[in-house]
Amino acid sequence: MNIEVNGVRLAYETREGAEPPLVLVHGFGLDRSIWHHLVAKHLTKWQVILPDLRGHGGSDAPKGPYQISTLAQDLAQLIDQMGFEKVVICGHSMGGYVALAFAEGFPQRLAGLGLITTNAGSDSAEKRAGRYDLIEEVRSRGALAVAEGLAPRLSHYPSVIDEAYQLICQTSPDGLIGALEGMAERPDRTALLRKIDVPALVVAGEDDQIADLDNAKAMAAALPKGDFVSLPGVGHMPMLEAPDALGSALHSLMERVVNS
Ligand code: MLT
Repeated sequence: MNIEVNGVRLAYETREGAEPPLVLVHGFGLDRSIWHHLVAKHLTKWQVILPDLRGHGGSDAPKGPYQISTLAQDLAQLIDQMGFEKVVICGHSMGGYVALAFAEGFPQRLAGLGLITTNAGSDSAEKRAGRYDLIEEVRSRGALAVAEGLAPRLSHYPSVIDEAYQLICQTSPDGLIGALEGMAERPDRTALLRKIDVPALVVAGEDDQIADLDNAKAMAAALPKGDFVSLPGVGHMPMLEAPDALGSALHSLMERVVNS
C-alpha cells in the first residue's frame, strides 16, 4: 500500500491483530521485507505496520538530507492517517535512530520502544567524515558503493549478506545519500533514554560489527523500563539471523505493553 505523508509517498504493509500496533522500522539501505519472516512466524498475535522509510524500498526518494526527525514525522503521519493513537515502535539500526526521534517528538503516541542493534549517540567525527566520503562514492558509483562496504559487515551468514546486498543495490542513490546525510547530522539522544517511561527492549548481537554490545547494555540500563537481550552468534541482522529469539523478545515486549 502507499500513502502520502509529509510531502512524500510512503510504501507500507499492515497486518491485522491485537493493538497497540507494532511498527517495525528497517535500517539503512534495506526495506520492510527484512521483517516478513519474523512477522509471519513469530508475531502472529499483533497488529503490525511495516513502513519503507523515505528513500528506501517502494517509498519515494526525494533529494535529502533526510533528518532523522523528519523520518520520525513521516511515521507519525502514517499512523495518524491509519487512525492509531499509540504504537509500539521498534527500530533496527538507523530505524532505531528513527524510533528514538519518534519517542522524542511524539512521546504521547509511544506505548513501547524497541531498539535493535542500534545506538542512541551521534556520530564520532571519524564516522561522520566516513559518511561524507561514502556520499561521494555513491555519487560516482551508485548504490554498489554502499552494498560492497556494508553488506559483508552485517552478518556471518552468506545468505543474510546476499539478501542485504541485493536490497542495498535496489535502493535509490538519492535515498542512500539523503539517509547518510541525516545520520551524519543526527543529535545525540542518549539523555532522552532516562525519560522514556514505557516498556522498552534493547536487543544486541554479540558478533555485531557495527553496533557495540556494551553501549547496548548501557542503553538498556538507562531506560527506566528497559529489558536487555543479547544474542550469541548474531551480528547486525537478528531479524534474519535469529528470528525465533528476536520474535520471542518482541512478543514479550508487546505483552508487557498490554499489561502495563
Ligand atoms: C544501519 O544498519 O542502519 C546503519 O549501518 C547504521 C549506521 O550506519 O549508523
